[in-house]
Amino acid sequence: MSPSASDLRERLGEVKTEALAQINAATDVASLDEARVRALGRRSAVSQARSSLREMPPEDRKQAGQIVNQVQADVERALEERRDLLLAGELQQRWDRERIDVTLPGEPLEPGTLHPLTKTVWEIVDIFTGLGFGVADGPEVELSRYNFEALNFPPSHPSLSPQETFFVAGRGDEVLLRTHTSPVQIRTLETQSPPVYVVIPGRCYRRDLQDPTHLDCFEQIEGLAVDEGITMGDLKGVIEAFARQLFGKSLDIRMRPHYFPFTEPSAEVDVQCFVCGGEGCRVCRGEGWIEILGCGMVHPYLLEWVGWDPERYTGFAFGAGIERMAALAHGVGDIRLFWENDLRFLDYFRGLM
Ligand code: PHE
Repeated sequence: MSPSASDLRERLGEVKTEALAQINAATDVASLDEARVRALGRRSAVSQARSSLREMPPEDRKQAGQIVNQVQADVERALEERRDLLLAGELQQRWDRERIDVTLPGEPLEPGTLHPLTKTVWEIVDIFTGLGFGVADGPEVELSRYNFEALNFPPSHPSLSPQETFFVAGRGDEVLLRTHTSPVQIRTLETQSPPVYVVIPGRCYRRDLQDPTHLDCFEQIEGLAVDEGITMGDLKGVIEAFARQLFGKSLDIRMRPHYFPFTEPSAEVDVQCFVCGGEGCRVCRGEGWIEILGCGMVHPYLLEWVGWDPERYTGFAFGAGIERMAALAHGVGDIRLFWENDLRFLDYFRGLM
């Protein structure tokens, strides 16, 4: 070996020893990178040795080149091994850090519960099925014909105004969001044959400003009984049985004359205040009575409209607001709460109904 080659070997041998020491001392990828730059970077002894090969006499150059290559290869291998080791260590640390015990019990999921309005509907439907009624339903997007005309509303009735009713755009005044469940009276009489005993729960829409007792989207339950020989006594008996089951066994109801185009005679029904029993309190506003629904004897106009003989058949109908019923039954002062979906409010009814 030429003197310059053995000189080089010695020098690079020291460089290599130092580089390997630094590599093995590296505790993370960043410090390993520093060691790499130091040992093999552009200004390192190895790079300088490589550049100086050009100036060597040709007979020394080959051997010197092999020495440089060998040192570089050794350092690179050490770098690679250390790198693998560090990465494996980091992975292990991450596993340790992120280890989960899959045998631990999970976070318990709170099971959902029916909405208080749904429960109220079911409760009311339950009472009426107990009295022999079936259940019917109809569309929320309804024909004006069914919502108004077939129900004997005169064309001049204020409810036909777009100020009060949502009409479907592009359909003139023909199609609307039903303002009550009463159009399903007509649909039921059209599709069924006598006798008919049904309740009809469903969503309704009115262009009302929202306040504690008004919503522009709300729920009603309609009742309809048409048969031979039905009288107002049947109406009163059914409403009383219903009100007593929902609000309290010993409460009385009273009927006040009212007007609806589709019933004649018509009435509004009050139930004795279930809070004070009739004395007068905050809930009944000192009245002793609380209004719960509208009702009446089915107007012969409707029976004629669907082709049933009004001489032979008579019937009664009623309609009640679900939000109002639920609010009354649970002392809720603002029916908007039922539609806000605030779980703190809804949770109150869990298990209660
Ligand atoms: N449809 C009426 C309303 O929305 C309620 C009603 C139904 C009255 C059936 C009488 C008979 O106010």
